[in-house]
Amino acid sequence: MQRIAELRQQVRCWRAQQLTVSFVPTMGNLHEGHLALVKAAREQGERVVASLFVNPTQFGPDEDYAAYPRSLQADCARLEALAVDTVFAPSALEIYPAGIDGHTRVDVPALSGILCGAFRPGHFTGVATVVAKLLNIVQPDVAVFGRKDYQQLLVIRAMVADLALPVQVIGVPTVREPDGLAYSSRNAYLTPSQRALAPELYRTLTALADALRAGESNFALLETRGRGALEQAGMRPDYVEIRRGADLIEPHPGDTELVVLAAVWLGNTRLIDNIEL
Ligand code: PAF
Repeated sequence: MQRIAELRQQVRCWRAQQLTVSFVPTMGNLHEGHLALVKAAREQGERVVASLFVNPTQFGPDEDYAAYPRSLQADCARLEALAVDTVFAPSALEIYPAGIDGHTRVDVPALSGILCGAFRPGHFTGVATVVAKLLNIVQPDVAVFGRKDYQQLLVIRAMVADLALPVQVIGVPTVREPDGLAYSSRNAYLTPSQRALAPELYRTLTALADALRAGESNFALLETRGRGALEQAGMRPDYVEIRRGADLIEPHPGDTELVVLAAVWLGNTRLIDNIEL
């Protein structure tokens, strides 16, 4: 289904039958991580809508929008196999009829300029804008997102709260390959030798999380140690940070609900991951 009007008609029909609706927004090129989102959505709602839309406004001018892997047919088949009720795959014109520069934007200032937002200016405004629009189109009871994109999840939760959108946001734990690498569409960019190195990201975050659990509280020292380990493995970290899980503010010694986050470059591929404590 490609048109907003069609999708709305379908959802109206379900609503008339008092059915609950859950929604999984994706950019397609589905992997095990997405499938976990769909399974969670199935548990939460009687009908499931998934969207496939590579959102141009969340990519910077020098980023991989054009190269981003697109696999519409295979994605539809996978979603059908998981009994997703409706797949919404709109065109960019359907979502941004005024063009991407002229479109209304949704900004979550407290969270959008830090961590990934500092390295990808405008990224989270693009995410918040498209998610707000998709939520308005689908009007689901529940919307499901992955915890791998931890900062994105917090941006979306803040946007939903600030705009009083009537939807429950659910965060699903990260799904990993057997060697620990988090599933990501961008893993497809890795060469075999980069792929062999990539689990070092999760190993480094695990070592930092273990140190925190063991009572180490010199956050700056741990971050430096993490950066060093990643650089030694051949990665170029954008950041390695220990933050408060609730708001991504720098923690004080004694704070307990922490998250260790990192973004690294491996060749031309940017990978992110995190561990929540
Ligand atoms: O996480 C993603 O795949 C995207 O950022 C999302 C939430 C579908 C918005 O385009």
